[in-house]
Amino acid sequence: MKKRILTGDNTTGRLHLGHYVGSLENRVKLQNDFETFIILADVHSLAYPKYIGDPDLIADSILQVAMDNLSVGLDPAKVTMFAESTVPEIYELALLLSMLVPYSRILRNPTIKDEIREKELGDSYSLGFINFPVMMAADILSVRADLVPVGEDQSPHLELTRELAHKFNTIYGDVFKEPEGMIGRVARLVGTDGGVKMTKSLGNAIFLSDDAETVRKKVMKMFTDPNRLHPSDPGKVDGNPVFIYHDAFNNDKEEVADLKNRYVAGKVGDVGVKEKLVIALEQILEPIREKRSRYESDPDAVRGILIEGAKRTRKEALETLNLVREKMKLPRF
Ligand code: TRP
Repeated sequence: MKKRILTGDNTTGRLHLGHYVGSLENRVKLQNDFETFIILADVHSLAYPKYIGDPDLIADSILQVAMDNLSVGLDPAKVTMFAESTVPEIYELALLLSMLVPYSRILRNPTIKDEIREKELGDSYSLGFINFPVMMAADILSVRADLVPVGEDQSPHLELTRELAHKFNTIYGDVFKEPEGMIGRVARLVGTDGGVKMTKSLGNAIFLSDDAETVRKKVMKMFTDPNRLHPSDPGKVDGNPVFIYHDAFNNDKEEVADLKNRYVAGKVGDVGVKEKLVIALEQILEPIREKRSRYESDPDAVRGILIEGAKRTRKEALETLNLVREKMKLPRF
């Protein structure tokens, strides 16, 4: 029997290059060898004030994120894709699991702390927001996944997932596997502004669905070596976002090496280096865009994929939940 993957994204807007190197690439690569579940985490998106107040935005985001996943090459004939809210068994599991987590443990979660700061949630975040990592554990454990390809920022949630699986198994008897995380080849992609990570909320992202003109503009505005004023000045390659992107996305490694040499020697300008980056990015983005346009013209096909996905996932989640109830000796009458 094939091992299982469950991974996915919050439906808080379109996916970007950071998602691509952090997780999407791995999903595509592994879809033949693992039974793959892709979750569109729409309940997670309710953790943010912007989304709780805008149901239309959530509904649209579900479709957008589904299309992002499909357009990078996930094959709907192979993977099971579903919206979190359509598998209510996950809520039930999340509630039961939440009883096993000390509240203080969640408040110490570094990703939760980062989110509160980045999204300026102050102290008005909801109880649901705090339960967010437990929901994620329930997503993963509901289908008893073995492997979870995610960006590095999600590692604390995976650690909690493993802890919860272990704790449940120890107290009540074996139900869950302790799933492994898998970080992408670029653990954390810097933003176009050189900021620590590419995030849609910080306005420093290149989206998979950006058109060629938008990509070009964003690259041309990218931060480079701040101390370099003229193309003839020797430039710095290390930590320079444009070169980080060349390393991440340009398949022509000789060209990258040559550009680096010339940059350090003051023999190529920022514009020249950026022009080459635009070309490299387009090689990746153009096929994605083309596939996406096919799905955009047939949103009902995407909905159909999600309906099938929900059916399949509910069956698995219910099986898990029945085992959980049995082990916890919750009554059946
Ligand atoms: N919280 C994840 C993110 O911010 C998305 C997500 C929700 C997820 N549920 C998941 C990822 C389950 C992996 C497994 O990207």
